This record gives sequence, C-alpha cells and structure tokens, in this order.
Amino acid sequence: MIVGDIDDLEAATVRDIAARKRGAGSSSHFAGRTVAAVFEHASLRTRSAVAGAVAALGGIPVFFAGEEVGIDQRERAEDVAILLSRHHSLVSARLRSHSTFTRMAGAIEGSGVPMVNLLTDYAHPTQALADVMTVQDCFPGRPAESLKIAYVGDSNNVARSLVKAAIATGMSIVVASPEGYSFDGDDRASFEAYRRASGSASTVEFGVDPLEVVPGSDVIYTDVWVSMGQETMVEKAAAFRPYQVSEALLDRANREAIVLHCLPAHRGSEITAEVLEGPRSRVWEQAKNRLDAMVALFSMLGGRDG
Ligand code: CP
Ligand code: NVA
Repeated sequence: MIVGDIDDLEAATVRDIAARKRGAGSSSHFAGRTVAAVFEHASLRTRSAVAGAVAALGGIPVFFAGEEVGIDQRERAEDVAILLSRHHSLVSARLRSHSTFTRMAGAIEGSGVPMVNLLTDYAHPTQALADVMTVQDCFPGRPAESLKIAYVGDSNNVARSLVKAAIATGMSIVVASPEGYSFDGDDRASFEAYRRASGSASTVEFGVDPLEVVPGSDVIYTDVWVSMGQETMVEKAAAFRPYQVSEALLDRANREAIVLHCLPAHRGSEITAEVLEGPRSRVWEQAKNRLDAMVALFSMLGGRDG
C-alpha cells in the first residue's frame, strides 16, 4: 500500500482514522520489527509522531537524514527504497520532490512493504489525517457534513491534502489564495474525481478574497506562505500579506470557529501571535493529534511480517 496523498486511501479509512478507530494493529503490531523514516527536510512534529507511533505499536523507528542517504546522488532513489523495504516493515519519507516519492514507491510496490509520504512539495497526508481528526474532536456531536473549513493562504502541499481529507470525511472546504497561487485545473479535477469516487457530498470551493470565504466557516486554517524548498521565492510574501489570519478576519467567521495551523508558524506573517495564542486556537490539540493519527494510519497499513 502506497500513501502518497489522501486519495490513495479509501474515504472510509480516512473517516475511521478521523474517528480515532484503530486498524488491526495492537501494541505489538511492529514487535521485533523496524520502520524506516528518511528526512530530506527538517521536521519536528512528523518525526516525533513517527517515533511515538512506532513505539506505541511495539516497533523501533530508524531515522535517516537525507544528506547521509544521498538520494539520487550517492544512490538512485529506487535503489534506496528497495534496500529499505528489505530491512524494514514500513518505509516512510519526507522528500523534496513528490516525483522522487513516486519513483521510490513504484520500486517497492508489490513488495508487501507500505510506503508513506511524510511531506513532499505536493502533499502532506499524515498532517491532513490529524487535521480532520482535530476538527471532529472540536465539534463533538456535529456531523462532519455540517462543518465547513476555510483555508486561507497558499494552495500548497498541506492545503491539497486537507481538501482531500475534507472530501473523505464529508466536510466542506473553501480555499482562498492569491491569484497565481491557486490550485490549477489538474488539482481541481483530482479533487472532483476523489469526491465522486468517495460518494462525498462535500462542497469544494475556491476564492481569492479571504474576507469573502471566512463567513459561515467553523474552522480557519492557514499555513506558511513560503514552504520548505521555496526559500528563494521572496516575492511570495507581498502577494500573501492580505491573507494574514488576524482577529479582524476571525470576527467574520462563525462565533464558535476555531483556528488551525499545521506548524511551525510565523507570528506576524500568516497568523498574528494574538490569534495563534488566543482562545480560538487549537493548534496544540492539532499537533498532539499528529501522533494519534500516525498510530491509527500505521496500524491500518500493517507491514510485512518478519
Ligand atoms: N506540521 C509538520 O509537519 O511539522 P514538522 O515539519 O515539524 O514535521
Ligand atoms: N507547507 C509547509 C508545511 C510544513 C509542515 C512546507 O512544506 O514547508
């Protein structure tokens, strides 16, 4: 099983994870076994969640720094994946390029060893699982179909996976990004394809003006304006200035609306310190749920025995 993005999972699996249902895995799921995690970018939450999840399932995580592995420098990406699949029960990776993830996953597809995307420039599925889990935790008793997320900011990896996780759970979502930073036709087609395949009644909308998308929303979500690997794109900051999540923006949302951010956050850029640390913020619950969601995902994926 390959999890490159949320739409590699059946919608029912996403819903089970969001509802905190475990898979077949128990605390001895990975007993006597190891899980590989390769990181080409920095990480705190994801790396910590992998470590905690593998330990909770009785296994041992083995971390590799990208520069030591030298993917496509010291060794072809495919060869790295094959080696890791022969040593470990599950392979996971945070990679600069999603095409590298696809090549690695392709090389071990059929081996019985699952491969999980821990963030690429395209998607961040393990984040999105924690996001929809958090939304459901924060609105107990509210059917997912009655909940609406407003994502304000860059149509990036986090947003792409979030849209798909919203679709899988039946939540509606509206994305506001500046001109030139919105999802393109291919993305919109993939959202619609997943919506149809899932039989989801979600509404997925796109806008430009953040002030217009926030009214009627239960969740305001934002992420950094400049993602890892985009450090030279300094021009982005100017385009995103009107997209800061502030008290003034929140005043337009539903009275009970909460604020999410995948973290790390840049106070004074995409979100004010006042909002990030304010009473509507649920970012620490969300960050804690990275661990719970990783446990649920890994226990559902299983992994090769022996
Ligand atoms: N949200 C998230 O993925 O955090 P890290 O980059 O610290 O893993
Ligand atoms: N969009 C951000 C998310 C970090 C968790 C990035 O890719 O850097």
